[in-house]
Amino acid sequence: MSEDMKVTVIDHPLIQHKLTLMRQKDTGTKDFRELLEEIAMLMAYEITRDFPLKEIEIETPVAKCKAKVLEGKKVGVVPILRAGLGMLNGVVNMIPAARVGHVGMYRDPKTLKPVEYYCKLPNDVEERTLIVVDPMLATGGSASAALSLLKEKGAKSLILMCLVAAPEGIKVINEDHPDVPLYVAAIDEKLNEKGYIVPGLGDAGDRIFGTL
Ligand code: URA
Repeated sequence: MSEDMKVTVIDHPLIQHKLTLMRQKDTGTKDFRELLEEIAMLMAYEITRDFPLKEIEIETPVAKCKAKVLEGKKVGVVPILRAGLGMLNGVVNMIPAARVGHVGMYRDPKTLKPVEYYCKLPNDVEERTLIVVDPMLATGGSASAALSLLKEKGAKSLILMCLVAAPEGIKVINEDHPDVPLYVAAIDEKLNEKGYIVPGLGDAGDRIFGTL
């Protein structure tokens, strides 16, 4: 990994094992979907490590005591359509009070630039930490455009969480959004001429939804 990349790789053994299963071309849709959800859950566990706590008084069956609970940080999860949907349930399982927004982006075949076609967000977006999820950070174009859109809509606190990233995509996010912490499970070698991550896992959307 190049020294100047600002990215946190969450490479817990369980995540590495599950990701290896996902990469294999013979892994079918059901397993692929379940593994992605499980990894998203494990990544959410790590990403929320610094969430603030407060102390409250409670009473156990044995004694009164002080104990910690989450302070109540407001969270939103924003999958980038369509592949981001595959990571949504995993994150929401860990943060059940999170609100969910959706951002849809497609790549204009002429300009090759990402174009927004759908955006529906919680109305208090400026008060929430938004965890933006998209499994494959390839060129970084859609993720960067989605982050810009969320900032335009008022988001002040953003986190980007991807499964596999290419160095090219990490560079784009670092340059366009130096304020956004980036978490990935793996950094792969490169992009190929068709824009696929190598070795990657193929088209994540197609593998999640069985549209191969
Ligand atoms: N999107 C995918 O689903 N896979 C890639 O390898 C790159 C972009």
